[in-house]
Amino acid sequence: MSERKSGESRKGLVLGWVVLGGSAVVFAALGLLAGSIIERRAERSVNRVQMITPIGDWETDNEKWAINFPREYNSWERTRELAEATKYGGSEVKDYLAKDPRLVILFAGFGFSKEYNSPRGHYHSIKDVTSTARVSEKTPATCWTCKSPMVPKLMHDKGVAEFYKGKFKDHEGVMKDPIGCLDCHDPKTMALRISRPALKEAFARRGRDITKASHQEMRSLVCAQCHVSYYFRDKETNYLVFPWDDGFKADDFDKYYERTKFVEWVHPVSGTPMTKARHPDYEVWLQGTHAFRGVSCADCHMPYKSEGGVKFTDHQVRSPLYNIANSCQVCHRWSEDEVKQRVESIQDKNRELLDIAEDAMVRAHITLGDAVKLGATDAELAAPRNMLRRAHTYWDYIAAANGMGFHAPQESARVLAKAANLAQECRIATERIRTKYGAKSEAPMPDLSTKEKAAAFVRPFVEAQKAKQARAPQGRTASR
Ligand code: HEC
Ligand code: HEC
Ligand code: HEC
Ligand code: HEC
Repeated sequence: MSERKSGESRKGLVLGWVVLGGSAVVFAALGLLAGSIIERRAERSVNRVQMITPIGDWETDNEKWAINFPREYNSWERTRELAEATKYGGSEVKDYLAKDPRLVILFAGFGFSKEYNSPRGHYHSIKDVTSTARVSEKTPATCWTCKSPMVPKLMHDKGVAEFYKGKFKDHEGVMKDPIGCLDCHDPKTMALRISRPALKEAFARRGRDITKASHQEMRSLVCAQCHVSYYFRDKETNYLVFPWDDGFKADDFDKYYERTKFVEWVHPVSGTPMTKARHPDYEVWLQGTHAFRGVSCADCHMPYKSEGGVKFTDHQVRSPLYNIANSCQVCHRWSEDEVKQRVESIQDKNRELLDIAEDAMVRAHITLGDAVKLGATDAELAAPRNMLRRAHTYWDYIAAANGMGFHAPQESARVLAKAANLAQECRIATERIRTKYGAKSEAPMPDLSTKEKAAAFVRPFVEAQKAKQARAPQGRTASR
């Protein structure tokens, strides 16, 4: 509607104004419509619920809730369904490393370079976390935190810090209920409830009491228990922390990691100290138009649905592109095709920017690695390594978020431009150092066309790092 090509003739210009005037009216109407929809959603749907059989305080078995709430349960149960993938998302599992072997380099020395798959429905959370190649004997219990409603129960029984301190293997076989009712609801009143302490604690450090959040905010905050950036404070406690003390933007995460000097792992090729953003869906969403206009995660991912005249919340949390009529068209009067094209065109642009940033970052790692080979010292490489560490923070903030650019298109572009620029600056600075050590041309690039080839390139660096760590077991291989 607003994408019409500008007319060349005077007639075209006049027509342009008519179109523009028309869209202003439509936009005003959309504003009103969205406003009234958001207000309608602001009435708590849980006020309408009737409890037939009381539910225990720590009922983790989703089936036990089904007696009272068959519609919500049945739609929740459908998160097991695997539909054909959408262009960038969807419920079919995608192997990110095969699709994009540069990731094997970017996460070298870290679990995500061994296996990195796209998410699927909540129903699969237990199966998927126990079968990933990233889990080992050393994996802390903290990794269970966003996988099961048994976690809040265990935290209640053992204490939060005690839970994090344990090992992942301690709960294997015991942890059986996938993400479900108790994760988001108070079993007595069915009100939305925050069951994960890390979110409450992050809010408290920002001077906010999460129990005072509005109902519309809660419709996103229940998701922010898990769909966020996080890290484990140290290897002794494995305490779960959100890096939100300086704010929610990529720049704030950058500031936070500069300030705290936290290092998650050291990159075996380039020697760069690294952090991982995990999946900052909530933080990225906060930067977009929809958040600004009060449109919550649940508005798009859990729209209302009608069955036999009863209106309820669709608990089949999934890509809204499977359900455009209920997810988008309640507010947008665009055809299904237009909505899909709009989303995909945003995601295509995001992919292009990700590619630019990733190419620059991979080159930077390999150039740094070559500088080490030529004899450059840690002191000389500290500044360029820090640029690359920062590039990774910016890039990962968008790359690891599951909206693939949709949740905040303009912010995603800005952040990826910063990432690409930092990576290029790192490379220029490193090339200068290589020249000092006699290099006559740019560092050679290996063949990274498949994930196997990328893994073969990385392997000797990982082994050399392990050997070095074995010789000096007490310390890190690099520090900041
Ligand atoms: C305005 C609607 C809208 C809002 C609000 C919204 N999303 Fe999304 N979300 C989308 C769309 C569209 C996609 C892209 C789906 C695709 O590519 O198949 C998406 C993708 C995702 C995905 C990946 C889905 C997949 O199939 O791989 C996750 C996870 C996600 N969103 C979580 C969230 C969370 C958490 C929030 C709130 C903090 C949120 N979304 C807010 C529309 C929305
Ligand atoms: C990821 C979070 C999440 C999970 C998991 C979840 N719900 Fe909900 N539920 C919501 C949200 C969000 C709403 C909308 C609440 C509102 O706006 O008042 C809701 C609403 C409800 C309502 C109120 C009536 C309605 O349909 O709007 C019932 C009842 C309910 N859920 C039952 C369940 C049951 C039963 C389960 C487990 C099978 C479950 N929920 C799992 C987030 C969740
Ligand atoms: C207790 C933690 C937790 C909560 C709460 C949670 N999620 Fe998830 N979500 C996950 C995990 C873990 C996965 C990946 C599961 C897998 O791949 O096995 C996931 C997957 C998804 C997907 C991908 C589904 C698909 O079919 O590809 C979407 C979309 C999503 N979540 C949206 C949301 C929204 C919206 C909310 C809030 C209403 C929410 N989630 C609340 C942990 C959570
Ligand atoms: C509850 C209402 C509501 C829902 C649901 C909703 N939107 Fe929006 N959307 C808005 C509002 C409000 C704006 C801002 C328009 C304005 O203020 O002029 C907007 C803006 C947009 C824009 C332009 C801004 C941008 O971020 O690029 C796109 C594209 C868009 N929406 C797509 C979607 C898609 C796709 C869905 C479904 C997955 C969706 N919307 C669901 C209310 C909604």
